[in-house]
Amino acid sequence: MSFRDIQTQDDVETYKKRLIDNYADRPIIIDHITEQIQQLGLEIPTVVELCTGPGQLAEALCHSLPQVNYIGLDFIQPFLDFTEERLSAEATFVCADLTGSDWPELLENAANNRPIDVIVSMQSLHDVGDAAQISAIYRRCQTLLGPVGCFINADLITQEGDEANARPGRLTVPHHLELLQAAGYLSTTCSLRTAQFAVCIGSNR
Ligand SMILES: C[S@@+](CC[C@H](N)C(=O)[O-])C[C@H]1O[C@@H](n2cnc3c(N)ncnc32)[C@H](O)[C@@H]1O
Repeated sequence: MSFRDIQTQDDVETYKKRLIDNYADRPIIIDHITEQIQQLGLEIPTVVELCTGPGQLAEALCHSLPQVNYIGLDFIQPFLDFTEERLSAEATFVCADLTGSDWPELLENAANNRPIDVIVSMQSLHDVGDAAQISAIYRRCQTLLGPVGCFINADLITQEGDEANARPGRLTVPHHLELLQAAGYLSTTCSLRTAQFAVCIGSNR
């Protein structure tokens, strides 16, 4: 089942189970992202998640960061409804397409004039589009983030040397870091690599 076929809450449950069953590294990635945000030491962090899907990361963030001001974006409304029902903390949701042009403004409105501290995405940007599309998202997020903000992208990657067999949105780690640098982040790093995933971070400080 593709996310584009999701209509009901049962569909979301099925999709969530498939993600959990097929990608064993996800718990490691979720813990790592949570730790990265905790280490920023922000009292009331405003965190935007791009492509929330069934909300596993959202649940972990709201559990581990009780004061978080969480804003989730996805273009499939049933994912947003499913996630909202499961969150203990108050959260804001934006239904928008990342290939469109209105999502940065919708996120700014959702943040209600508070600076956005972290923008995070897990296992998703490769689904949104190719390197040009990911680059455009990195750039828009760099300006959306506050002066000390950072973008944390945990995604499925292509190993270096295997580029010839790569699907369009699955980039190598050096390619992600290059795009983050070109987008204007002051510092960039790959903070974790597993067999399937890499976590690439661009920071404005
Ligand atoms: C593989 S799922 C991952 C969901 C979630 N991040 C997780 O790891 O459980 C990919 C997600 O990206 C979202 N997505 C894909 N293309 C999108 C777009 N153009 N705009 C907004 N969301 C999109 C899908 O709706 C889906 O929720």
